[in-house]
Amino acid sequence: MGANLDLSLTASRDPQAGLRAARRETMLELIQVGSGVALVAFMWTHVMLVSSVLLGASTMDRIAHLMEVTWGAYLVPPAVTVLFLAHAVLAARKIPFRLDERLAGIERTAAFRHHDSLTWWIQVVTGMTIFALGLTHIWVVVTTYPILAAKSAVRVHGPYLWFYIPLLIGVELHASVGLYRAMIKWGWVPREAMRRAEILMTAFFLALGSVTLAALWKLGGPG
Ligand code: HEM
Repeated sequence: MGANLDLSLTASRDPQAGLRAARRETMLELIQVGSGVALVAFMWTHVMLVSSVLLGASTMDRIAHLMEVTWGAYLVPPAVTVLFLAHAVLAARKIPFRLDERLAGIERTAAFRHHDSLTWWIQVVTGMTIFALGLTHIWVVVTTYPILAAKSAVRVHGPYLWFYIPLLIGVELHASVGLYRAMIKWGWVPREAMRRAEILMTAFFLALGSVTLAALWKLGGPG
């Protein structure tokens, strides 16, 4: 909203400056959407890889070992962290700064019962949640290498469970809703089809993540 107002003010004063500002805004938007789609691809791959524990601790250990010898375990975390930070900084430029502006936005969304505005607020809340939890999680994992199912299981069986539950819910909602918004923004996919896909994707990855957490929790228990 603020960015659009700035653009029209700039354009009314100097059409060339307005054009440059519009190009810059389009570029920032493309980087934001591109980094978001790349993070969704990473996240879904990540949930699939961790869910290998469902086939047994040794399967997860073999995959983790493969990631280590191919350097994936060392190169992916910094790359994901940079992508994560860039995406968050660019997305945050659209969040109203003042609390009264935020409350007014939420009130209007509730009054109009507008689905796509609601999805935007879901992205703001889940984005802020996973920003803090996601960076902490990466730090905890990379400072306790090597990745081993038994080590993960001890973490999940302990107080970290209460960390992973909001992280899982936040990240799966954020990924599916974000993909929905990216696809309908430029009309790439019909809205109704994408809405159904959004619900199915959220349900599938939440279910897979939940059974994975349950398996790790069980593995970390006594005996
Ligand atoms: C980039 C480097 C990352 C690595 C190496 C990594 C590795 C792992 C490992 C080994 C686990 C098993 C639990 C544990 O050991 O504590 C796990 C679980 C989990 N991770 Fe990550 N992770 C990374 C990034 C992320 C990010 C960026 C997010 C979300 C923002 C995330 C969300 C989760 C969730 C929700 C779980 C719980 C398991 C599930 O339900 O699938 N991870 N991760």
